[in-house]
Parts: sequence; C-alpha cells; structure tokens
Amino acid sequence: MKKTTLPSSFLQGHAAKLLAEHLQANSYGSVHILVDENTKKHCLPLLKGNYPVILIKSGEANKSIKTCEKIWSALESQGASRHSLLVNLGGGLLCDLGGFAASVYMRGMAFIHIPTTLIAQGDSCLGGKTGINFLHYKNHLGAFAEPACVILDTAFFTSLPKRELISGYAELLKHGLIAKRSLWKLLEQATLKIEPDLIQKSLACKLAIVRKDPHEKGLRKLLNFGHTIGHAIESAYLRKDQPLLHGEAVAAGIICESYLSYFHGGLSKKAFEAICEKMERFIPLPEVPQTMHRSLLTLMRKDKKNKDKRINFSLLNGIGKASIDHYLDEEAIVASLHFYSSR
Ligand SMILES: NC(=O)c1ccc[n+]([C@@H]2O[C@H](COP(=O)([O-])OP(=O)(O)OC[C@H]3O[C@@H](n4cnc5c(N)ncnc54)[C@H](O)[C@@H]3O)[C@@H](O)[C@H]2O)c1
Repeated sequence: MKKTTLPSSFLQGHAAKLLAEHLQANSYGSVHILVDENTKKHCLPLLKGNYPVILIKSGEANKSIKTCEKIWSALESQGASRHSLLVNLGGGLLCDLGGFAASVYMRGMAFIHIPTTLIAQGDSCLGGKTGINFLHYKNHLGAFAEPACVILDTAFFTSLPKRELISGYAELLKHGLIAKRSLWKLLEQATLKIEPDLIQKSLACKLAIVRKDPHEKGLRKLLNFGHTIGHAIESAYLRKDQPLLHGEAVAAGIICESYLSYFHGGLSKKAFEAICEKMERFIPLPEVPQTMHRSLLTLMRKDKKNKDKRINFSLLNGIGKASIDHYLDEEAIVASLHFYSSR
C-alpha cells in the first residue's frame, strides 16, 4: 500500500492478486472462505481461485452462536486443522463472526479479513474485536483476535446496495467527530464513489486510538461515541424482528450522544446543531418512538462499559475532540431520547 500510515498487514489494491500473494508467502494447511449469500454472489467471483466455501446467512439475527456452530461443523467436514486459514469475505458482521469462530476453533486458527462494506473497510477490520450477539445484546460474547492480514479493495463497493453504502458513513463521521476535525469537514456529502484514500484516513484515525489502548482499558472507549444509545436502538429493533442497519442505529446514537455532549460534555450549541444537520443530511435516520425509551434504558444498563450500574458515555468536547467515562443519570439519557424522538 503506498504512502500509508497503516500497519504492514493492511494491503490495499486488487483483492485477488493480494490474496494469492499472501497465500504464496504463507504455507497454510488449507484455505476456507466464509461468505454470506450476498458476498458469495457479488464478491467471491472477484477473488477467483477455487477454495472450499462456508456459506452463512446474512443479518444481525444470524450473528449468533448457532451460526458459529455451523462454521465449526463446516471447518470440521472440510478437514480444517489449526494450521488452516479462514478468509472472512464480507461486511463487519461476517468479519466479527468469522474472526470469533476462527479464534476459538482448535484454540485458534489463522484468519484474514477481506472486508466488502464501507463499515468493514473504514472501521471494523481494524482493532481486533471479534464477537457475536447473545440474548439480543449486541456483541455480548467476543474476544480480541488479530487477523493475519486485511485486504482492502474498493471494487467490492460496486455491488453494495446504496442504503448499505450510505449507512456506512456513520462510522467515518464518528471518527472525524471524536478525533479528526479535518475528516469531519472533508465529509460534506455521502457520495457513492469511495476513494481508497478516504478508507485510509478513517482507519488512521482509529489506529491512533487503538495503538494506545488495544484492549479498551481507557482511551479506546472514545470509539464507542454514539454506540451506547446506538447499540440499544439496534438491539431494540432486533427484538422487534425489524433489524436496522448498524450505521443507521449509530447515526441516531450520534445525535442523542451529541445532545448529551452539549449538556454534559462542553460541546457548543453551534457545533451540536451542525452535527444534527450533517447526520440528517447524510443518513436516513430511524424512528425511535417514545414507547421504546424504557426498553432502550433497560438495554443500556447492560452495556459492557458500565460500572456499578451507572451508564457510561464517551462524549464530545468539540468537533474532533472527545473524552471518556461520563456517567450520566437516566433523566439526562431520557432527555436526549425525547430530543431525538421529537425533532
Ligand atoms: N469489530 C468492530 O470493531 C466493529 C466496528 C463497527 C461495526 N461492527 C459490526 O459490523 C456489523 C455492521 O457492519 P456491516 O453493515 O458491514 O455488516 P454486514 O456484514 O451485515 O453487511 C451488510 C449487508 O451487506 C451485504 N454485503 C456485504 N458486502 C457486500 C457487497 N460488496 N455487495 C453486496 N452486498 C454486500 C451483506 O450480505 C449484508 O446483507 C455490525 O454487526 C457491527 O456490530 C464491528
């Protein structure tokens, strides 16, 4: 990858060529490709090659232990060993799930990510978080595990549905908001043509944080901005069997948590209004009816970052500046939900 600030295991270019080079340089016992029905149809043909495929169903409801069991059974029947490689070809969900399944198969087999959505390329492929949902709580089971390499190719975006692509901007906007004002300013509209440079800028933002705190003991919690409320909204929709796109839930979470940042984090009114305006302009925001507020609070009480039953937030102090460990009472949280629902 040229002129990059990313680790050397991040390769950007033609996925088929980069995968072939990686396989040649490493002698894996066998290679298995994890796909869902969409990446099988649209992305697998771009890889060429003839590897055994493991097919899972797309959708948050399938980010589950049941799907892991299917992956482990398929690896078993395809003769995988702990010297084999699992190639995760898909979005953030598939990479989280495949990374988790690989990290425990025979106490850990190698895996690589070939992310095929904007969220996965611009965010989730970096940082080593893998996991699955459990009892309707987002990413409740998981482990930190690093892929042997990550292959980035914007050619995969050609087949990505417009709604998926647009919602993917939420995580890029978040990176700009918490750490890089210039990235936030650069993102003026959600274009459907994504340049590799934009992916690099977004990942560089995340890397600067993750390098300092790989296992989320402190600073890395900044990356959860928008996610305490966003994950609760995503989980609530999942319970209703009407899954939202992750980026859409995060976009709603960003508005609510910017409201909290305005009242409790030192964000100016002008910046708060600018954030609301840009989020509304970029991403179609989900409805969060008042009748949902109570169940959102119940879900937030289960958030992994909480301590002593208090709900933990990362808040903005300005655009491009944020801080961690704001414990807010439920009244404040409800006020942010009211603001969102009645805007
Ligand atoms: N590990 C992390 O740090 C991290 C960070 C952010 C989000 N996430 C997770 O990522 C998930 C959301 O990411 P996502 O939206 O990429 O997930 P996804 O894997 O669900 O992909 C979204 C949809 O796009 C389809 N798809 C993927 N690539 C395609 C392509 N090139 N062409 C056509 N269709 C394609 C998929 O089949 C799926 O239907 C959530 O589960 C979230 O929790 C993880």
